[in-house]
Amino acid sequence: MLTCGKTALCEEKVRSHYTRHDLLSRVLSALENAGKNLSDLCPADLAPVDEFHIRGRKATLELAHAIKLGKGMSVLDVGSGIGGPSRCLAAEFGCRVDGIDLTEEYCHVAGALTELVGLSPLVTFHCADALHMPYPDGEFDVVWTQHTAMNIFEKDALYREMNRVLRPGGVLAIYDILAGEGGDVHFPVPWSRGLDTSFLITPDNLRRLLEEAGFEITTWQDTTDAALVWFRNVMRTRNGADIRPLGLHLLMGDDFEVMTRNQLRNLEEDRIVLYQVTAVKQAPA
Ligand SMILES: C[S@@+](CC[C@H](N)C(=O)[O-])C[C@H]1O[C@@H](n2cnc3c(N)ncnc32)[C@H](O)[C@@H]1O
Repeated sequence: MLTCGKTALCEEKVRSHYTRHDLLSRVLSALENAGKNLSDLCPADLAPVDEFHIRGRKATLELAHAIKLGKGMSVLDVGSGIGGPSRCLAAEFGCRVDGIDLTEEYCHVAGALTELVGLSPLVTFHCADALHMPYPDGEFDVVWTQHTAMNIFEKDALYREMNRVLRPGGVLAIYDILAGEGGDVHFPVPWSRGLDTSFLITPDNLRRLLEEAGFEITTWQDTTDAALVWFRNVMRTRNGADIRPLGLHLLMGDDFEVMTRNQLRNLEEDRIVLYQVTAVKQAPA
């Protein structure tokens, strides 16, 4: 559901930034070109393309272990992209996962890939806005979000909405890019082409907003150094070599090279930092 004026316009720009129009066919062709058999795929085969955040599947597994995710838990993945993290949580930990995302094409691709790897009984996707989640209060054991809040201006409303759909004592798991002390971000970056769709906040502001929304922070980890190591490796491996068929370039489109270079520069110049945060919904006083 769209709200009004500025927000609706911003959401349209975010959707248009991520929409490729032919993403499913590109991903399927890339899988075949990478030598994968489409009728015998496992979720991990998709990891080079479906984990759209720094440090990919490794970061997802780290966050899942940090919150002690267990079989049968209900998880809401906010900004689920093409569904890699949701499928990973279902396949590796036996969770039931609902993913919501603003970008219609991503939800369509997420559903198709989930069907392909046989996880549809555990994982479903809906096209919805993180500020207006289509769920009743207290629905989930876990709310999970990776690299999504950067696109959302109304962060106070976002964290209040996450709190609302969690059961009391439920867990919030965050892996996000935040503002460093080095100044404005160099654009384009994978999540945005400019300040009209990029809304980074500092770690201090994130802490304050989470506490105001009714969370108690349980872990607070700066993972920027690990991100830097990962990015330098990506660039070293890439150096001069052809792009592999299966990778995040399929999601980022033609600006892939410049986005990747900018991302590394932003990290090196302390313009962005990476945080893994876990928090618990406090019971009402
Ligand atoms: C960089 S991608 C990350 C996708 C996924 N979390 C992952 O790590 O693979 C950011 C995602 O956030 C989604 N997004 C941005 N603003 C949103 C909003 N207001 N509500 C729901 N999804 C949103 C975008 O459509 C995009 O799929």
